[in-house]
Amino acid sequence: MIKQAIIPLAGLGTRLLPLTSVFAKELLPINGKPGIEYILDECIEAGIKDVIFIISQKKIMIKNYFFNDSFYKKIIKKKKDPRIVKEYKKILKYKKMIKFVYQNKPLGTGDAVLKTKKFIKNKFFLMLLPDDLIIKQNCSKSMIKVHKRFNSSVMASMNVNKKTVSRWGIYKLGKKLDKRNYFIKDVIEKPSIKTAPSNKAVIGRYILPKNIFSKLIKQKPGKGGEIHITDAIQSLIKEKNRFVAHNFSGKYLDCGSMHGYIKSTLEISKL
Ligand code: UTP
Repeated sequence: MIKQAIIPLAGLGTRLLPLTSVFAKELLPINGKPGIEYILDECIEAGIKDVIFIISQKKIMIKNYFFNDSFYKKIIKKKKDPRIVKEYKKILKYKKMIKFVYQNKPLGTGDAVLKTKKFIKNKFFLMLLPDDLIIKQNCSKSMIKVHKRFNSSVMASMNVNKKTVSRWGIYKLGKKLDKRNYFIKDVIEKPSIKTAPSNKAVIGRYILPKNIFSKLIKQKPGKGGEIHITDAIQSLIKEKNRFVAHNFSGKYLDCGSMHGYIKSTLEISKL
């Protein structure tokens, strides 16, 4: 049963500078709604009950966004505006699900995941990278179905332009399970065009096994000096842990770059 999700939010967001010099990118509005709320709605619809946010002191505004009760109560008392009441109720619903852990030095996604170790209860958990929005399909929900069917870890996947492979985790295809699902043989973080085993990239949705923590504890920094979750996954694959690549049917929006962020608002406004 996948009931817990973790969301790493402690990165610097340098690709969205200057906005991110004072603002958490996950709170930036996409068609009038903070990006992180799309991610939380995806979790709720997929049956997730607990969400762990990995933040840093620099991104404390994310916590403040969800824990601003006295402000709302005062405003509602004064204004009695039904819209504000509705918005506050929504925030309260999110707040009930969220716990916070801290990663004050952005040492990489693997290090961020390690911070959640003592909170993970079940054998598998979901991880969502909030820069990656997937619309028109609840990717997490589909992946949970795949996990149940094959009793394995799962990663969201899509084909990318061969010229851009060095921006992604790229994997080598294993056995075909059905039209959308394949076992993964190897996964390499940000390979060069020459060393990339394919043009199949891992996108920011993962169903990970709890035993990944035993790898992360020992994990040395990899590409760019960061501790990558991909490297821990590769160690597990090498030890015959099963990872399925799920080629999702929704539309991927990259909200972590300025061009992608602007485009995501346009795409979502068309829904
Ligand atoms: P990225 O490296 O893609 O994004 O991390 P970033 O660091 O936020 O932004 P850029 O690259 O400087 O523009 C992917 C996800 O992992 C989180 C980020 O917050 C993002 O959601 N992350 C990354 C952490 O929580 N901790 C880290 O040490 C690194």
